[in-house]
Amino acid sequence: MVAARITVNGKEAPIAPSAPHTTVLDFLRERGLTGTKEGCAEGECGACSVLVARPGVNKPTDWVPVNACLVPVAALDGQEVVTSEGLATVQAPGTPPALHPVQEEMAVRGGSQCGYCTPGFICSMAGEYYRPDRCAHPDPGADPGADAADGSGDGVDAEHGPNGFDLHALSGNLCRCTGYRPIRDAAFAVGAPADEDPLARRRDEAPPAPVATEYRQDDRAFVRRDTLAETLRLLRERPDAVVVAGSTDWGVEVNIRSRRADCVVAVDRLPELRELRVGDDRVEIGAALTLTEIERRLDGTVPLLAQLFPQFASRLIRNGATLGGNLGTGSPIGDSPPVLLALEASLVLADADGEREVPLAEYFTGYRQSVRRPAELIRAVRVPLPLSPVTAFHKIAKRRFDDISSVAVAFALDVDGGIVRKARIGLGGVAATPVRALATEAALEGRPWTAGTAEAAARVLRGEGTPMDDHRASSLYRSAMLGQSLLKLYAQTTEAVPS
Ligand SMILES: Cc1cc2nc3c(=O)[nH]c(=O)nc-3n(C[C@H](O)[C@H](O)[C@H](O)COP(=O)(O)OP(=O)(O)OC[C@H]3O[C@@H](n4cnc5c(N)ncnc54)[C@H](O)[C@@H]3O)c2cc1C
Ligand code: FES
Ligand code: FES
Repeated sequence: MVAARITVNGKEAPIAPSAPHTTVLDFLRERGLTGTKEGCAEGECGACSVLVARPGVNKPTDWVPVNACLVPVAALDGQEVVTSEGLATVQAPGTPPALHPVQEEMAVRGGSQCGYCTPGFICSMAGEYYRPDRCAHPDPGADPGADAADGSGDGVDAEHGPNGFDLHALSGNLCRCTGYRPIRDAAFAVGAPADEDPLARRRDEAPPAPVATEYRQDDRAFVRRDTLAETLRLLRERPDAVVVAGSTDWGVEVNIRSRRADCVVAVDRLPELRELRVGDDRVEIGAALTLTEIERRLDGTVPLLAQLFPQFASRLIRNGATLGGNLGTGSPIGDSPPVLLALEASLVLADADGEREVPLAEYFTGYRQSVRRPAELIRAVRVPLPLSPVTAFHKIAKRRFDDISSVAVAFALDVDGGIVRKARIGLGGVAATPVRALATEAALEGRPWTAGTAEAAARVLRGEGTPMDDHRASSLYRSAMLGQSLLKLYAQTTEAVPS
């Protein structure tokens, strides 16, 4: 097998002699690319952001910013990475090194003081700069302070610039000294990439293909197989192997809890785990698609999922995180399970002997336990159609964005002729596993969708689960939030569904 190699800023380099758990961040810094910074090593600050060439949503290739502190460098065998240094130097061929347009805007608008966060902001900003469906023609007359709901129809508000820049692209980047206003000014000032811009042109060519990898050092290995069948055979031989997709959970385990695995098996580029199909009776979502890919490819087809994505971590994390990883950890506070429970989703589990489909409501068996066997992978998530029309996802957390849920509640209701015909409610953060609020569902079904029904059902919802006290919230607060969540749903929906 060819030795593992990675292309950084246009130059190929061997991954050896890094250990199989070495992160992209450490790999880059050890090679002198110290623009990429370590702030937290757990995906919270974005100082380590770099661009990776990935299969595109609207073009063959997207430049996708990811947290270099979380991704093992061996996972990027055969891939292309651009750092903040590379952005400055890979401009048009034959031209002397110059600041990249996003670097130029950050400099002239005072977007940097100590500079520690700046390379990370630059890479996240460059990812948005190169997003193919970002408005390419800035409208200097549009007012970024105005609300999108002002009727102007220009799509410009406090979070979206006149150049189409979505400020949420920077939601995973923290700055402790400059303040965000000049950074926002820079983001909202960048224009469209020039025709001869090599990174813009790179988007029109195929992304680097995934490469079968068997990267070993001492007794440890990072392995990537070409197909699902080969991967499942390997997992049967090595039931002790740790499966990784986006590595946004596993990377934290490695960095903060010093966990090491003898064998890490990558599944993030397996074609069988990266399909998305919208059929007549169901939507099937590959377990290894990133949340950003699902969000952009579904584009609102499943409104409850569309409500989930912006509340899930940050754009940087969503660029790596997968549904397979969120369900695979079995965490009781993962944000996708409540939503998928309300959608009555099922999981397609695959091992070397074949596949089985398990309703998500029967998947979790205890704290971080599930019916999934050690050699089984989650191949896909199936959401049955038609969808219930009244939906909401309420995530109660200490911060509005980029925080772990204290409580999460997802609703999917059929209200017909003023009567609740069907109610499905998924809860996170109130028990050892994500759960359905079965008693509340029963308290709603068959009843008129009125304030009285909502209040009575909210009292039932307050008693669901066994919420506990911890550093995020007290059990009383969690119960109170459950009830409030249903009252909020009623308030939010009664205009559309008169009682
Ligand atoms: C800063 C930060 C913020 C976060 N915020 C949120 C948040 O708001 N909400 C939330 O829910 N989570 C959050 N997370 C957790 C994490 O991002 C999610 O759980 C994510 O979905 C994990 O996906 P991944 O592909 O990165 O998993 P990985 O880290 O690659 O894998 C995690 C584990 O899942 C299992 N696994 C992965 N893929 C499969 C598969 N196909 N089949 C079977 N098992 C599999 C493996 O056991 C693996 O060890 C956050 C994490 C960080 C670092
Ligand atoms: S170092 Fe903070 S997100 Fe990577
Ligand atoms: S410029 Fe100092 S942390 Fe952002």
